[in-house]
Amino acid sequence: MNITYYGHSCFGVEVNGKHILFDPYITPNELAKNINVGKIKADYILISHGHYDHIADAISIAKRTGAKVVSNFEIVTWVNNQGEENTHPMNIGGTWKFDFGSVKCVLAVHSSTLPDGSTGGNPMGFVIESSEGSFYYAGDTALTYDMKLIGDYNKVDFSFLPIGDNFTMVVESAINATGFIKCNKVIGMHYDTFGYIKINKEDAVKKFKDAGCELILLEIGETKSI
Ligand code: NI
Ligand code: MN
Repeated sequence: MNITYYGHSCFGVEVNGKHILFDPYITPNELAKNINVGKIKADYILISHGHYDHIADAISIAKRTGAKVVSNFEIVTWVNNQGEENTHPMNIGGTWKFDFGSVKCVLAVHSSTLPDGSTGGNPMGFVIESSEGSFYYAGDTALTYDMKLIGDYNKVDFSFLPIGDNFTMVVESAINATGFIKCNKVIGMHYDTFGYIKINKEDAVKKFKDAGCELILLEIGETKSI
């Protein structure tokens, strides 16, 4: 799987030849100013929750690419109301098989109001399983015991976890999460974008290493094969 980082919590993951884009927030992100949003490929756009820093470019990318937007029922309704019909509504606990693999929606402990103040339902994370490998995209979340369900019933090769503190888990909580998930390989997200979530990256990588885990922090625009 090829993974490209577009800043904040936005990643493109290529699975079985399909491009899956998570939580597009690029054009308002000063750190991602070198990303050409008009060139990002997407066959699917997965949205974890309704906050602006996860959804800002979703409609424009969906319109340009024709990508199918996958999220909870309330966010999909909001997307439909903006004229985008290629959508798939889901909710926590449900799994659906797409052409690249399956998507399971799992609990995230956070909030989810949409930018216009309408309800964004409940925040979610995603477990993606495919013939090329499996991973967990946590979205914005606190550390929660429900992550143990992922460790008990799924086998993931790596996880995307928030590490920026203030709105989500801090580094130490993400390290604890790896024990619940039973996977020590983590790609960090939701850090450095705003003043509240600035982190010391070297320190974070060292803390993971000292705990016997691996923290991968991609450069914005970087593509890594896992
Ligand atoms: Ni959020
Ligand atoms: Mn966020």
